[in-house]
This record gives sequence, structure tokens and C-alpha cells, in this order.
Amino acid sequence: MNLTFLLSLAALATVGTAKTPGCGKNIPSRWPSAGSSASLNLPGTDRQYRLYIPANYDKNTPTAVYFSFHGASGTMKKQEALSQFSNSLFNPNGIAVYPDSKNGYWLSNPNADTSRPNDLDFTNDLLSHIEEKLCIDQSRIYSAGKSNGGGFTSVIACNATVGSRFAAFASVSGAYYDTDEVDGIGPCEPAERAEGYPFLEFHGTTDTTAPMDGNTKSNPKLPVIDMLQGWATRNGCGDQPQWASNETIYTNPLVKHVSWDCNGKDGIVQHYREGENGHCWPSTIGNSDYVKHPDQCPLGKYVYNATEYIFDFFEKYQLDQ
Ligand SMILES: *[C@@H]1O[C@H](CO)[C@@H](O)[C@H](O)[C@H]1NC(C)=O
Ligand SMILES: *[C@@H]1O[C@H](CO)[C@@H](O)[C@H](O)[C@H]1NC(C)=O
Ligand SMILES: *[C@@H]1O[C@H](CO)[C@@H](O)[C@H](O)[C@H]1NC(C)=O
Repeated sequence: MNLTFLLSLAALATVGTAKTPGCGKNIPSRWPSAGSSASLNLPGTDRQYRLYIPANYDKNTPTAVYFSFHGASGTMKKQEALSQFSNSLFNPNGIAVYPDSKNGYWLSNPNADTSRPNDLDFTNDLLSHIEEKLCIDQSRIYSAGKSNGGGFTSVIACNATVGSRFAAFASVSGAYYDTDEVDGIGPCEPAERAEGYPFLEFHGTTDTTAPMDGNTKSNPKLPVIDMLQGWATRNGCGDQPQWASNETIYTNPLVKHVSWDCNGKDGIVQHYREGENGHCWPSTIGNSDYVKHPDQCPLGKYVYNATEYIFDFFEKYQLDQ
């Protein structure tokens, strides 16, 4: 038997069996019951996270998982309220995970605690732990975040070990640090995979915290376009990627939707360029960001819920298993 034959046998054996060791097990006691959230500790560590299990969770049905990372000096609880990933309106069937940082910052922010286990190890270990306890669909694991948590989502995607476990990524008002300048992270080198790295980004043109064009303060941030072009290049769009479309989708406020088609994958990188929005998670009914940054987000409300667009984007992608 040659290697190709053995590999195709292995591929056949795994089709439709993207189940995890948690399948068939009851939800552990002290964990949230189906339809609720709770704050938990990752065993053997000093790390916390918040977990939401959907009301229709069934221990024999592999279930999707949505990570949501808080912004700098945020918390897991604030992120649950801000991103609304535990709201069945947006997420009727999936598990939501809100990891908590060590000191308010995620790896890539120069203030982050880089001691081992660092945030990449924590994310990888936390995901393994959840797969051990709950019935997870390993082809449908996703990561999103706000600000430093959005930047960290890109750092995860860049890592060949943990990034390979996630099917798609989304970042709201991300702070993208030049990771070559930060200890604790290697260069952006995701593992090769046929599915590519779907990446969705939202950014307000009036954001002064993580400005669209980056900044050169003591903690320099890259221009958003550089981060997006980087993902377009890594998805096969070449060294000087050109977007495929840049369309006005709302006129008041002016919202542009920019999309890259790379290597036969239409819209694998997407960006919403939001007029009259600053460092705020877009929501039609407002949220804590609009209270915190009334100067940057003067409408007090936005024309769409970013969370709805994130779940629609994630829905299109899953890993081949
Ligand atoms: C990638 O993440 C793993 C944890 O999943 C970590 O152990 C490893 O050091 C990271 N690699 C780089 C280059 O940062
Ligand atoms: C899309 O077009 C607007 C102008 O209408 C421009 O400001 C913006 O930079 C463009 N986006 C990209 C990614 O080129
Ligand atoms: C946005 O989400 C809120 C719930 O957080 C909901 O009440 C509202 O109807 C949504 N807006 C749209 C346009 O779907």
C-alpha cells in the first residue's frame, strides 16, 4: 500500500466523524446548564473563561463553538454583554466561549503578560478542555474579538498550531500590533490548508483608539489595510492583493463593504469601513461601547448589528475533516 492510498483511507475514516471525546457525556456538574452561562476556571491553571451552552444542546450532536475575546482592560463578562454571542437571536445553536486575559491585555499588546503558558497556549488548552467535556463539531470552531481581542484573533490565525483548529475569524475595531516587535509571538505563519483563512474585519473611520491608518505611538499599530492585505496574500491573492469590490452598502452613515476574492474563494477576506463609527461594536440598539465613546460614536446607534454579520460570515465556512 502506498502512502496516498493510506491517506485516502484515513480521510474516509474521518468523514462525518468530527466528534470530540465529550460526545455522549453529560454536561459536568458546576458547568452552566443548557440555555445559560457561567464563569469557570481552566483546571490546573489560574485562567478563567465564561461559557454559554445553547438551550438546544444535545450531548450526542456535535455543536459549533464561537470564541469572543474582550478588548484591552475588558473582561469576559463585559465581552459577553458587548458581543451578544450568548444571545439566541444571533447564536441559536452554538456554544460561546469568552476567555479572560491575565491582566487585561492579550498577547500582541505590548502590556500583555507573555509568561508561559501564554495566551496562545491558553486558547489551545481551553479548546481541548471543552472538546473533552462537550460534544463539539471540530469543523465549526470560530474566533472573534474586539480591539486588542480582535488583534489577538489575527494572532491566533497566524499560529500554525492553534490557528489550524479555527475555521474562520472576525475582528471588530481590531488593534493590530506589529508582532515582529513583540516578544512571545513568532512571525505570521499559518499552516497550509485548502480552506484558507476566512477573515472579516469591521472598522470605524472615526476610531481614535485603534485608528484605521494605525499609529506610531509607543505601542505602534499597523494600518487596518495592511492587516487585511496580509490575509489576502496568505489566502493566495498574491503579493500585491487588489480587492475585488468596494461597494457602498449604506449612505447614512456611509458604510463601504470591501471584499477580496483569492484563489477561487470569493469574499474570503471582507471589511466593513464604517462612517460615523469609532471604537464601538456596531449595534442598532447601542451597547456599553456607545456609552464609553459617545464622542467617537455620535449616533448612539448603528445601522446594523456586527454580530449578525459575523454569524452569517462564519456560517459559510467549515473545515474539511
Ligand atoms: C503557537 O501556539 C502554540 C499553542 O497552541 C504555542 O505553543 C506556540 O509557541 C505558538 N507558536 C508561535 C510561533 O508563537
Ligand atoms: C474603498 O473606497 C473608499 C472610498 O470610497 C476608500 O476610502 C477606501 O480606502 C476603499 N477601501 C479600500 C480597502 O481600498
Ligand atoms: C440588533 O440586535 C438587537 C438585539 O441585541 C435587536 O433587538 C435588533 O432588532 C437588531 N437589529 C436588527 C436590525 O436586526
